[in-house]
Amino acid sequence: MAGTNDNDEEKQIDAQQHIPNSPVIEKLDAVHKETAHEAAERGPAATDQYGVPPVYLAKEAEARLRLKTDLYIGTTAPPTYAPHKEQVMPLAGFEKDLHPKKVSRICLPEDLGYFPSPPFQLCAISTSISTMHTLILGWIPSFTVIAIIILLGKHRSNIHARASQISDFKKRIPSSELAGGHIEKFRERRDNQSNGSDEQYTLELKAIKRLYHQLHSLEEFPEVLPQAKRLLLSLLKETSRNALGLPEHESILAIRSFSRKRLKEFQRKRDYNIGQKWEQYNLRRKAGGPRELFGNREEAIWWLKQIAPVKYVDGAWLGHIGKVTTPFGLRKTIKDAWQVLSEELGDGDLEKNHVYLYHKLLETISPGFPTAEVLDFIHPRHQLDNLGVWKSAIAQMLISLFPHEFLPEILGFNLHFEAISMETLKAGKELKEVQIDPYYFILHISIDNADSGHTAIASEIVCEYMDYTRRIQGEDAAQKVWKRVQAGYLLSQGLPGVAVCPNLTQQAKISNEYSAPVELEVMRIFNAKAQVGHKIHCGSRVKIGSRSLEEWLDPAAMESKQWQRDLVCALSRSKYWICKGDSSKSRFIRELAWNGRMFGCFTQDECDVLRRWIDDFPNTLLALEDSRTKSGSISEGAVPEDILSEYPVFQSSFSLKFFDTALQSPVSPLLFDSLPDLDIVGRPTSEAFLPLWFSHPCLLQAFVSVPFRTSNKLASTIVRILRAQGGFDIEQDCVAGMDEVRRPDSFGLSGIGMKLLAREGLSELSSFKEVLQAWPSEFAVHMLHISTRPLGYKGLLIGMTTAFAKMHVVFASSPVLAADDQLNLQGIAQRELEGLEFCWRDMMHDDKEHIECCKGYLIAKKEIQKCFPCAKTGEKSVVGHTG
Ligand SMILES: [Fe+2]
Ligand SMILES: [Fe+2]
Repeated sequence: MAGTNDNDEEKQIDAQQHIPNSPVIEKLDAVHKETAHEAAERGPAATDQYGVPPVYLAKEAEARLRLKTDLYIGTTAPPTYAPHKEQVMPLAGFEKDLHPKKVSRICLPEDLGYFPSPPFQLCAISTSISTMHTLILGWIPSFTVIAIIILLGKHRSNIHARASQISDFKKRIPSSELAGGHIEKFRERRDNQSNGSDEQYTLELKAIKRLYHQLHSLEEFPEVLPQAKRLLLSLLKETSRNALGLPEHESILAIRSFSRKRLKEFQRKRDYNIGQKWEQYNLRRKAGGPRELFGNREEAIWWLKQIAPVKYVDGAWLGHIGKVTTPFGLRKTIKDAWQVLSEELGDGDLEKNHVYLYHKLLETISPGFPTAEVLDFIHPRHQLDNLGVWKSAIAQMLISLFPHEFLPEILGFNLHFEAISMETLKAGKELKEVQIDPYYFILHISIDNADSGHTAIASEIVCEYMDYTRRIQGEDAAQKVWKRVQAGYLLSQGLPGVAVCPNLTQQAKISNEYSAPVELEVMRIFNAKAQVGHKIHCGSRVKIGSRSLEEWLDPAAMESKQWQRDLVCALSRSKYWICKGDSSKSRFIRELAWNGRMFGCFTQDECDVLRRWIDDFPNTLLALEDSRTKSGSISEGAVPEDILSEYPVFQSSFSLKFFDTALQSPVSPLLFDSLPDLDIVGRPTSEAFLPLWFSHPCLLQAFVSVPFRTSNKLASTIVRILRAQGGFDIEQDCVAGMDEVRRPDSFGLSGIGMKLLAREGLSELSSFKEVLQAWPSEFAVHMLHISTRPLGYKGLLIGMTTAFAKMHVVFASSPVLAADDQLNLQGIAQRELEGLEFCWRDMMHDDKEHIECCKGYLIAKKEIQKCFPCAKTGEKSVVGHTG
């Protein structure tokens, strides 16, 4: 618990953003870098290294303060020194606090028309008073001032004219102001655009940031799994729903029935379109057009930092793939997908590791910028507050988390994510123009290529997986699976994780012109009502977002699709009217029913559309609600529980005592070069050996599940060991790409295991679970349990892996294996031991880890030796006896 007295003040400040009911959150809140009290002692210099004060005002309070300040300055100053709009901004250092829209309304007489007509304004004020209760009382003087100004001002009722004036004003903001370091302005504008949804935005942002941190240390926060799964489902629903509004030529949904040919054709068109857009971009630039991602170096730095949450999880969508519990029939699909992951992780070469590269890039432009796995990374002081970017990042982590359950979605996600994007192409060019190393982006243009790179592999994996599904489950099942591949694709497409620089926000907004069918239907319904019922709402005090109902339902304005879209969007954001994801809790729907104020306005069919529209909304906060029951246990059935066939499983019943009891005496430190040999010869017994054979590759798998945790030499070495075990070719200077996909007979330990099963006459066993059902092994199950905890049992896991590598050395000369498998296993063992030697040297820097490593070695050695009971007697053993 975070309950130290020193932290109490900060906890109160932060309380406005607190998400209730989560013990995990309390655990996280315990970490504070500096208390507000300590910061205050530093006086005016009480800012952190980024110049940001440690104390944050609540957005509501800040907005109130700003409004009052605006009104004060605006009502007293303009007649004397603000004759032109352009001169409003540099007022006496108030630039940061004055919102241009508000200033323009008040300072410039010709702009007073921005305000609604007097009757409406009075109505709006009275509405506000009645609905906002005591909160509004503090504003009464301000509203009085507004009312006086309105009465003096020019009356304009045309809504379009007002909108264009605002737009004109924004366009006339000098670009030097935008490009010259006023990034903060962007945040203000976004905050103002979001109006009443600020609180929702902040809560969502904070909740997703927390989950992002927790998923970087999943073994410490296994209780988040139910939330993670709900959020994944919610995001899949959100992006699938939104994709229904995409034009068919841009949507993978156009492939209604999967075939390899249709997928290739779709990708060809997609690549062609990107090529066209890239050509047009270059023509614009050649004709003197400006940069399109950022204006200058400062904005580029801001942009690179904003997208860091996404770039720091590069490869994460495949991070948990390839578990030993995956059905054997999927080995080819999984191995090909792992090839992509391996290349994202630099094939075990730290310098080529993608998240490492990105961090190095940030280090050059923002020294000391935190890494992804530390709690500091999610601290508000870094101003990484782009919800879209965080959602994109969390989606990448979530989609990988349940690799057995969501495999089609993972492969679909991979299919989209590996495609080259315009943003990557532009970044490769524009970063260079502002003297920032663009290599991270240039690398992604080349390594993701559609001939031999990740795009090609991603496509091949989907085709291979669809063929497998057809073979095993039939055509109908395959087409159902295809829908799920599409959903994964749309998850990546729908959450692009793009940050838009301040001077490009208008341009970005205009491009958002698609709506889902249900939304289009709602827009049509509202438009129809507006055409006949506009004036009926004259007396209404109802306000949606920034406008009154009467204003929204202006028949002329409602002719515009964008206006309709804005109305629907504003309504959906109104927590007063809409409970996203639950129409039964929505006041708007209740008002349509009997005794409601709108009963009879909408037909039954229209009501059904409105209900569906609301029910289809994702509700991130609902998904992230704490899932613990009152008894404190995690809700049953929400997450995987069978460690033999599911993932991830964190059972509290698991105990390390099982391994502790394996050793009789305390362990003294051992050196890698002088580890005691395994006392094994001859043939092992299959009932003891095969469960260990199929389970032991799990030991290091979780070390590479989270990309940022691979950005060090130890993890890179583990990537190389895993590559050897998985049957991947020896690392070369260049990536293997599609060459690895085409390489025959390359399944490493698992391939050898399959041959051992065949020699036993047990080829029909199709999964690790079935192997264990044939030959139960408590030791194998416990290895699975500790393998999910690479942070807690690092030493133990590396030590055990070493014993198995030494077992490979001995077993490689066993007559049980065919000659080519003997060679194959020798090669694997050699690569394993090369890597493990480095790991042991690394472990020796920490005495405790070193001892754990030695323990792991001795425990596994003892268990392996049990598989070779005839070693000293020369008696016949079982494995291979039928061969
Ligand atoms: Fe990458
Ligand atoms: Fe890639």
